[in-house]
Amino acid sequence: MLAHGIKTLGVLGAGQMGTGIALVAALRAKIPRVLLHDRDPAQIRSGLSLMDKLLAKDVGKGRITEGEAKDARGRVVVIGEEGVKGLRDVDMVVEAVSESLPLKQSIFASFAAELRPDAILASNTSSISITKIAAAAIPQGVSAASAEGIKSAGRVVGLHFFNPVPVMKLVELISALQTTPETLDRARAFAGACGKEVTTSKDVPGFVSNALLMPFINEAIMCLEKGTATRDDIDTTLKLGMNHPMGPLQLADFIGLDTCLAIQQTLYDGTRDSKYRPCVLLERMVDARWLGKKSGRGFYVYDDA
Ligand code: 3HC
Repeated sequence: MLAHGIKTLGVLGAGQMGTGIALVAALRAKIPRVLLHDRDPAQIRSGLSLMDKLLAKDVGKGRITEGEAKDARGRVVVIGEEGVKGLRDVDMVVEAVSESLPLKQSIFASFAAELRPDAILASNTSSISITKIAAAAIPQGVSAASAEGIKSAGRVVGLHFFNPVPVMKLVELISALQTTPETLDRARAFAGACGKEVTTSKDVPGFVSNALLMPFINEAIMCLEKGTATRDDIDTTLKLGMNHPMGPLQLADFIGLDTCLAIQQTLYDGTRDSKYRPCVLLERMVDARWLGKKSGRGFYVYDDA
């Protein structure tokens, strides 16, 4: 038995992150069954088509054989109308839905009701408190301080993947106040099996990654807002001057401006520190539904969205 002991994995959310996580779990970690669920059938269709495209590219580049691609794809099973009930047999589930605390709390409450009591419950949140999410995984009427409450919340962990998941080599592991050492060890072993290097962070707003990245992106947007430099000059300065693969405005578009704003709001609300206050231009762009690459327009215009 592998250190993570996961034979069946659930992935909730078939957006870019969920699809990428399902893919690396099936292809790299070779988890025998990867159950993928999204309540939006269109999202499932685009997730599967992205997966097929990425596997075909790996075959084309000679990195994997056609047989390996077929095996990986065969391990991914779509869960439809059954929803979370369809995940009842999983050894571990990774939630990768949008950055909303109430949404995540309701999902983790349904995990507590439907999934096996020994299943690990991981969230791919970028900034929301894992401790708050873990508290939601305690069944209704059970005290957080009881043995059952401690066990229920103790199996919750943060497993923060980076976009694009198949390419980025890091997973940030976040321990809630309640997470048990066994849960952490198994989650770390799973991320390692997916081919990722693992760093750990305390459960603070934004963890290490976004507590550092988001003020940087926000500052770049403020430079644009104040007219300090043009969009292209801001991005080129960071790309060529600091060897970043993307400038901060292009990166913000790539992450999604709504996601950047949600993370920044969590950072600001969680710290009350003005250095995290999202700038007005970012708020207005989200108001306009200019959400970056996924919507066809952000700081840049994308013809292929
Ligand atoms: N999915 C999978 N693979 C992708 C991809 C995607 N969406 N986009 C690009 N790739 C792959 C390409 O297929 C290519 O693979 P190959 O070498 O096997 O052919 C490789 O990435 C390089 O792509 P390109 O040659 O087309 O383009 P670039 O060299 O410009 O690289 C990039 C693209 C990897 C996205 C690079 O620009 C980059 O590293 N950008 C920064 C990404 C980053 O910082 N991500 C973290 C965001 S923060 C986050 O996720 C945390 C969250 O909490 C906010």
